[in-house]
Amino acid sequence: MAEKSKILILGPTGAIGRHIVWASLKAGHPTYVLVSKTTAADIPNKPKIITAANPETKQELLENFKSSGVTLLAGSIGEHESLVKAIKQVDIVICAAGRLLIEEQVKLVEAVKEAGNVKRFFPSEFGLDVDRHDAVDPVKQVFDEKAGIRRVIEAAGIPYTYLCCHAFTGYFLRNLSQPEATEPPRDKVVILGDGNVKGAYVTEADVGTYTIKAADDPRTLNKAVHIRLPANYLTANEVVSLWEKKIGKTLERTYLTEEQVLKDIQESPFPRNYLWALYHSQQIRGDAVYEIDPAKDVEAYDLYPDVKYTTASEFLDQFV
Ligand SMILES: NC(=O)c1ccc[n+]([C@@H]2O[C@H](COP(=O)([O-])OP(=O)(O)OC[C@H]3O[C@@H](n4cnc5c(N)ncnc54)[C@H](OP(=O)(O)O)[C@@H]3O)[C@@H](O)[C@H]2O)c1
Repeated sequence: MAEKSKILILGPTGAIGRHIVWASLKAGHPTYVLVSKTTAADIPNKPKIITAANPETKQELLENFKSSGVTLLAGSIGEHESLVKAIKQVDIVICAAGRLLIEEQVKLVEAVKEAGNVKRFFPSEFGLDVDRHDAVDPVKQVFDEKAGIRRVIEAAGIPYTYLCCHAFTGYFLRNLSQPEATEPPRDKVVILGDGNVKGAYVTEADVGTYTIKAADDPRTLNKAVHIRLPANYLTANEVVSLWEKKIGKTLERTYLTEEQVLKDIQESPFPRNYLWALYHSQQIRGDAVYEIDPAKDVEAYDLYPDVKYTTASEFLDQFV
């Protein structure tokens, strides 16, 4: 049997990185993570159900990684020598660093190029297709930075895959896109636009699964992989109706015009402005609605139809 590729994950304690680590281990890959010295004590989007795969603190998570067989390597994107040394030990590099580190990945691309052994590189994307978006600031800047990193990778001739997974359920579905809520509302809901624009939802765990499947797949080499799963490609109105059916209650729906949404984005502090801009991109501008180009794109569902992904309906069940 062919040996499994060795995979290095950067940003392993992040909202998405941890799920890529678990998926890599589950698929039997020798799994390595790069850990910086300043691992914070808390985690974003504290999960509703605390498990060993999703514990309360980053330290616990790192201990759970270690006891599960993950190799922890010290380093950070800014530390060139330790970075090159880590990369030389593996075949595939997946970066899941957060939105403030996107441009910093220029240093990572340099290190991958210098190491010279990487079969596949995934830059930190894990959102919409940054070559197709129509988002506004503050997210436009981040998406444009991600597109800029794509050009740096392509110019360096590094083999890549771009993972376009659209909306994490932990950010978009668990609160029906109500920025301050952590659970779906039971009385009133605010909907951006007319609520009839399709968005694509996926659990963070399923992003991990598809990322690892794509990592070693020749069909995804130098392509963007799009995750738009049939049962999870839904309008905001469809999502609200799904929830209403589960709780047996009709919510009061308030529809905001694009003008109202843009005003709110401009006037709100972080993180509300950022979340609204993400929701606006998907639910008003329709950034998840496009035809793929077979020369440079593939749909994850077409490649891996056997993956039993979590449907939006199943995800919402935990909140009933
Ligand atoms: N589609 C969606 O709905 C969605 C939602 C959220 C994020 N995203 C995207 O997913 C990607 C990852 O974001 P995230 O929110 O998961 O990130 P995050 O939770 O902020 O985690 C960032 C990770 O990067 C690590 N890190 C920090 N500084 C580093 C450095 N200098 N070198 C190496 N690693 C470093 C952090 O480690 P420490 O623990 O040591 O700080 C942490 O593990 C981003 O591209 C983001 O835009 C998409």
